[in-house]
Amino acid sequence: MAVHESNHPLVKHKLTILRNKTTKPKKFRELIREISMLLAYETTRDLALEPMPVETPMGATQGALLQEQIGLIPILRAGLGMVEGVWEMMPSSEVWHIGLFRDERTLQPVEYYNKLPVSPTVQLCIVLDPMLATGGSAVATVDILKRWGAKRVKFMGIIAAPEGVNALQTAHPDVDIHVAAIDERLNEIGYIVPGLGDAGDRQFGTA
Ligand code: PRP
Ligand code: URA
Repeated sequence: MAVHESNHPLVKHKLTILRNKTTKPKKFRELIREISMLLAYETTRDLALEPMPVETPMGATQGALLQEQIGLIPILRAGLGMVEGVWEMMPSSEVWHIGLFRDERTLQPVEYYNKLPVSPTVQLCIVLDPMLATGGSAVATVDILKRWGAKRVKFMGIIAAPEGVNALQTAHPDVDIHVAAIDERLNEIGYIVPGLGDAGDRQFGTA
């Protein structure tokens, strides 16, 4: 399906400050939250609506409400920071956490936490992770969601490497990808260049 790289000026502005190596964790977390809100606007553009009549103080009109129930799936740890902003936009979403870390030697994702309910209760799953590097974590998460029965999945991130976009598209061509930027490449230890460094460490002050 489609890959969307945001061209919104607010996203570009905030992303530049996010990338800056002098940006401290508090500001970094605020920016992750704000960029996530803006990307949520773009990611949810095609959500289904159902007509809903509404009475205003001035009379009756036809309105519309969201038809689909949405699940937000942050990949721990770094995806946590994206939840708050998106949740503010869609407060009735359910949030399920998936814990994965990249083995630093093999770059393969290792699963350590999974809080999915027994069977899917939503029509759309949005996976949240700021970094799509090799794509291993995102592919593994979508694998887990599909095995569990998710029918429709989107990926929302902040920075992607072309390698990660290719890996996710190849493994799951039906998953739309929404990011703030697609960067140049991965370096020899699997970091995105120019990227922003380690998104988990920069949010949680653990560098
Ligand atoms: C980072 C990031 C992604 C993953 C991306 O997590 O948040 O989950 O790496 O890399 P990939 O596309 O090559 O899989 P990390 O493993 O560093 O864990 P953390 O979020 O707990 O710091
Ligand atoms: N994970 C990060 O946090 N940053 C990268 O550049 C790649 C993976």
